[in-house]
Amino acid sequence: MKALDGIKILDFTHVQSGPTCTQLLGWFGADVIKVERPGVGDATRKQLIDKPGSDSLYFTMLNHNKRSLTLNTKTDDGKEVLERLIKECDVMVENFAPGALDRMGFTWERIQELNPKMIMASVKGFGPGPYEDCKVYENVAQCAGGAASTTGFRDGPPLVTGAQIGDSGTGLHLCLGIVTALFQRERSGRGQKVLAPMQDSVLNLCRVKLRDQQRLDAGPLKEYSQFGEGVAFGEATPRAGNDSGGGQPGRILKCLGWENDPDAYTYFITQAAVWKNICDVIGKPEWKDDPDYATPDVRLNKLNEIFDTIEAWTMTKDKFDVMDICNPLNIPVGPILSMKELAEEPALRDTGTIVEVDHPERGKYLTVGCPVKLSDSEVDVTRSPLLGEHSEEVLAMLGYSETDISAMRESGAI
Ligand code: COA
Repeated sequence: MKALDGIKILDFTHVQSGPTCTQLLGWFGADVIKVERPGVGDATRKQLIDKPGSDSLYFTMLNHNKRSLTLNTKTDDGKEVLERLIKECDVMVENFAPGALDRMGFTWERIQELNPKMIMASVKGFGPGPYEDCKVYENVAQCAGGAASTTGFRDGPPLVTGAQIGDSGTGLHLCLGIVTALFQRERSGRGQKVLAPMQDSVLNLCRVKLRDQQRLDAGPLKEYSQFGEGVAFGEATPRAGNDSGGGQPGRILKCLGWENDPDAYTYFITQAAVWKNICDVIGKPEWKDDPDYATPDVRLNKLNEIFDTIEAWTMTKDKFDVMDICNPLNIPVGPILSMKELAEEPALRDTGTIVEVDHPERGKYLTVGCPVKLSDSEVDVTRSPLLGEHSEEVLAMLGYSETDISAMRESGAI
């Protein structure tokens, strides 16, 4: 048995944020029915095409463990099918532009009328307020949620990050909201609305930067390199490059081969508890008891000198050797791993985090499997559905006869 066995999801999501959420629900065992426009489908099916004629990796990697039903929900037949689906399903998930569902005739009031137990979950760019009607994509959310202003180097422009914190990050938040609402429904018997705005989700992930915003009132942020460099702080949390900015200073440092390999780097954390081990490893035993270096506070205005010295050592070592030498001494370090290295990492294959999937149109491809491991609910990653692959079986489940289904096909409703 799987954790969400028996739970039916009406998946009205598209692009990335909503689909990451419903994919997780599918991995946890829910029956996910993805509703797509006939002949078109989710826009990502045909975006970033690498193999002509086949669904893109963008689509396949976000839509595993789902069934696809094509439905034109702007036709009368389509609306009727959607009504039956709403009555049949436990959760409806959508991430249309604000107002799209209302324009389709499916307001929250109407949905509750059809199924008072329905959990209606939405991703929107912004929550209620001046921007609630705006369409939003990943990088807009990263900018509006505080990630971009705090990412990058002080002397450069704001930067977006490759981690899709706006889309996939919000999908995770929404998924948590849904399972929590399902849990509450067990006791209340009622459904509810769940909203995960992308701005709010990104801000949640940038929580420590709002912490620093308030700490600025008490003086300079001493854990940021700019403090040691004597650069004044402005009014807002600054970009901190690769500083950890937290209680344990850290940096990205060059390793052997950095001149030719863009990923020959390590992250190195000067954790206070193991300072003496660090001094021994980098050949600076005299720093162990030197009052100018021995305690975390006195080191804060010397971070550049300290990390330059550590880097002179890491540059003599391969990034994996740094790991092998530092780990037994409890010094927290981590190699910068490329996507190529991650794709080839056997341990991630063994745990099902990197999975090879076979697809009838594109053959074998790699995907990221379920990153959350439940000991009593195993995940089998199954390929994404072709457009409308399950239309007949889903309509039959809803009580439609073969004649009804042919008529809907004729009229273009499915
Ligand atoms: N049958 C008939 N019509 C359908 C349909 C179906 N099965 N599925 C969708 N549509 C219609 C919608 O009703 C809408 O029509 P309307 O504008 O006439 O009311 C239309 O398709 C387009 O929907 P929309 O969501 O506006 O798509 P878009 O491509 O213009 O915008 C986003 C895309 C992502 C910007 C927008 O959906 C959005 O802001 N979503 C919320 C935030 C979000 O999730 N962003 C991240 C995406 S990864």
